[in-house]
Amino acid sequence: MVAGMTQSHPRISKAVIPAAGLGTRFLPATKATPKEMLPVVDKPAIQYVVEEAVSAGLDDVLMITGRNKRPLEDHFDRNYELESALQKKGDADRLAKVQESSDLATMHYVRQGDPKGLGHAVLCAAPHVGHEPFAVLLGDDLIDPRDPLLARMVEVQEQRGGSVIALMEVAPEQIHLYGCAAVEATEEGDLVKVTGLVEKPDAADAPSNYAIIGRYVLDPHIFDILRKTEPGRGGEIQLTDALQQLAADEKVGGPVHGVVFKGRRYDTGDRGDYLRAIVRLACEREDLGPDFRAWLRSYVAEEM
Ligand code: G1P
Repeated sequence: MVAGMTQSHPRISKAVIPAAGLGTRFLPATKATPKEMLPVVDKPAIQYVVEEAVSAGLDDVLMITGRNKRPLEDHFDRNYELESALQKKGDADRLAKVQESSDLATMHYVRQGDPKGLGHAVLCAAPHVGHEPFAVLLGDDLIDPRDPLLARMVEVQEQRGGSVIALMEVAPEQIHLYGCAAVEATEEGDLVKVTGLVEKPDAADAPSNYAIIGRYVLDPHIFDILRKTEPGRGGEIQLTDALQQLAADEKVGGPVHGVVFKGRRYDTGDRGDYLRAIVRLACEREDLGPDFRAWLRSYVAEEM
């Protein structure tokens, strides 16, 4: 039990990771491989996300999967054949790497039969989550572990209740790619009160340039709202629309706050950004970085 907390306010321990998407932007790579398994340097993108949840203290992870997502379950499970082969070879380093992902968290899986949108995916978590606040992490957004975001969001939720979303200021011409929040300042510099939300507005209609990035700490009342949320943008049940209701009516599970993130975020859902993420992370790696940076410098000098 964390100091200052009461029994009626259990520590947030559950993370939900929607991973049922088809990954069409990466075809044909994602024809038979889930997009979440695409490597970012030498780890599948999804492992970074699970590691982030664990380092914020959430070690009960529920993945919302779908057909063709078996490799996700295998990745976070033991692989005895591989482990014993590495053991026989005495390859302790690689053995540790193989075991790392299966020792990380307590993993659970549920399938989203029909892909009816992010709100619907989150609703699939209701039986597992029950009546506690919980986190949602979207796999396309990687947050650099040096800039912890989720731990701060959990802290805000524990102090203020309700729900907490992650926001980032983006250029006005980018806002149509995100959920967008109307906000009011609070007395804390990195924290805003969310007064309204709209999913992927046109720049002209956007209430601000605060974009929702894929991290949420949600009050469980969101499930009651999601059950009644009609399909919205793109004909899908939108999490943003359900959150808008929480923001609009504080009596039902509100308020909604936003933590404004200014750290390093990598979008692996877009091919260009995915490549940039790999290059940046590879450059910063102690083992690969020095050689890779030297090669990159000469490559750029030749190409430009
Ligand atoms: C989802 C959400 C959107 C949010 C975005 C963050 O959209 O619906 O509100 O801004 O994630 O990555 P998607 O990118 O899945 O279309």
